[in-house]
Amino acid sequence: QIIEWDPEDAGKGGYDHYMLKEIHEQPTSLRQTLRGRADPATGDIALEDFPPGTFEEISRVQFVACGTSYHAGLVGSHFIGSRGLPAQTFLASEYAVSAPPVDENTLVVGVTQSGETADTLSALRRAEAGGARTLAVTNVVGSTAARECDDAMFIRAGPEIGVAATKTFSSQVVSLSLLGERLVRDVVGRRSDDTQDVLSALADLPDHVQRILDYTKAHRVAKRYRDSDSYFFIGRGSVFPVALEGALKFKEISYEHAEGFAAGELKHGPLALVTPATPVFAVFTGRHDRKTLSNMKEVEARGAPVVAVASETNEEIVQYADDVLTIPDTHPDVAGILANVQLQLLSYHAAAQLDRPIDKPRNLAKSVTVE
Ligand code: AGP
Repeated sequence: QIIEWDPEDAGKGGYDHYMLKEIHEQPTSLRQTLRGRADPATGDIALEDFPPGTFEEISRVQFVACGTSYHAGLVGSHFIGSRGLPAQTFLASEYAVSAPPVDENTLVVGVTQSGETADTLSALRRAEAGGARTLAVTNVVGSTAARECDDAMFIRAGPEIGVAATKTFSSQVVSLSLLGERLVRDVVGRRSDDTQDVLSALADLPDHVQRILDYTKAHRVAKRYRDSDSYFFIGRGSVFPVALEGALKFKEISYEHAEGFAAGELKHGPLALVTPATPVFAVFTGRHDRKTLSNMKEVEARGAPVVAVASETNEEIVQYADDVLTIPDTHPDVAGILANVQLQLLSYHAAAQLDRPIDKPRNLAKSVTVE
């Protein structure tokens, strides 16, 4: 049988879709993102364009972004805010019409893998007009965001072809953690107490991701819950954004309805939607999280299946979950990247089982360059 050679396949490296290839590229792309930027032994960070003192004048940080990049920005503002520096994350399309006050001591960070997203560019231009300092965290050297902002930090994830963002989310979160630590040191005036734990967890990230790729059961979970009515994702603190990202990934490539919530919000309304036909994916960081656990039990009590995404050492979870997608133990501020890898794989397999195109979902573009 003559196998037709399809030039499209050339770049897929033997994978059925670019998205799966890019999920599996994460150990490599994360090594590239981290290279030369952090030393867990000394706790030193070295960001090529941002030496110590770069951000001394900054008093607050605002992130502006869309879609997956917005979720990465939420992780970034949680990282910075929990270490003493005021930080907020805004949907870029909302920021342009209801921007908070900015001044020369405000740093507005545009998180955009393409560097060409129109909503994000207009939010950055509005910040610039208000006198703020602007910084692009992007994957594309020479992109409009990189050129127009005062500064740029490159996430070095390599080209991402699949419309659904995967490896770039992981590299964005790592980049924002390193940038965040630089900001905290410059503005708060001291290293974060857990800085070496965080840098060690980041250094372990590529190997931890590889372990998940090797042992994941996401394909079985996707199969078990296919044909559900809806898919809910819950998380809290540093993994609330991962619940949002898990839902976005799921809906944009499977075309099934999925929604992410803060774990504490379920009983304020969404619980009315929970039935035995709506699996709930509960993301845990590893730190003991009673609120997520108690919400998991609420869901369980209504007969909905619960899939926990939790540390492999978390015995308690196993008693309450119908399935567990495990992640290696790591720092709670890094666990979200690992949990997200399981959710990327879940979405991929759910879409593949439904025969969706995956790399080019209907109605979507890789970079939304129109407002
Ligand atoms: C996410 O999977 C989508 N591809 C989309 O939400 C994307 O994250 C968003 O359009 C922002 O793109 P950017 O990072 O290039 O600005």
